[in-house]
Amino acid sequence: MADIENIVVLTGAGISAESGLATFRGPDGLWEGRRVDEICTPEALATDRALVLDFYDQRRRALGGVGPNAAHRALAFLDQHWPGELLIVTQNVDDLHERAGAKRMLHMHGELLSALCGACGERSRFDGDMIDGPRCAACGRNELRPDIVFFGEMPYEMERIEHALMEANLLVSIGTSGAVYPAAGFVQMARHAGADTLELNLDPSAGSVYFHETRLGPASVLVPAWVEDMLASAVSA
Ligand code: APR
Repeated sequence: MADIENIVVLTGAGISAESGLATFRGPDGLWEGRRVDEICTPEALATDRALVLDFYDQRRRALGGVGPNAAHRALAFLDQHWPGELLIVTQNVDDLHERAGAKRMLHMHGELLSALCGACGERSRFDGDMIDGPRCAACGRNELRPDIVFFGEMPYEMERIEHALMEANLLVSIGTSGAVYPAAGFVQMARHAGADTLELNLDPSAGSVYFHETRLGPASVLVPAWVEDMLASAVSA
């Protein structure tokens, strides 16, 4: 580990599971009994706006009842103390990384606490209910939608992510099933750039075979232990 300088950390719903937020594809997952394309697509927003807005209003409200867990806190601690480059790329739309204190991070699939105006494209902080038809602060139209990247839409900040992966010496993937691209392909991009790749997950993901190492267990146990190892190696280097 001594020659690790630049780290990319990819997180998915599994890192927030122990905070009480449901994952998508596990037992009693958010998608259980629903088809993803009946909610998380531009077509669904156009044909059943109330269903889509209510789905995200419920998830936005749930944020008030949960908090960061030991895995979020460990990553924030690493962010504050890691001397090299570090970028946390989360697929999650919750704010638990930020509430744990992470700074060097981005949401590639958008955020529950942000609204996107369908009329003018303005992104703005939002913590209410969209079903009430709030107006855009920039243009005044009431075409706000969840600032969530739907299936078929381009994730945010892909250039920044790809640059970080090309420069990375280590990619760590935490709590993601590897079911959705482009995030599921980051491990191949990192390996192509010569990085080590580590997976910390409750179960093997769809892409486990591409990782140099996979450790199975809960994020709240695996992530603090990994962060402790990384900082110890940085000190001894
Ligand atoms: N600790 C670590 N990993 C966990 C834990 C835990 N406590 N609980 C669950 N996991 C793992 C599961 O084993 C699974 O591999 O987290 C992963 C969750 O997978 P998904 O539910 O598919 O969530 P995610 O990979 O984040 O989904 C990716 O799909 O629906 C879209 O846009 C949505 O960002 C999401 C994307």
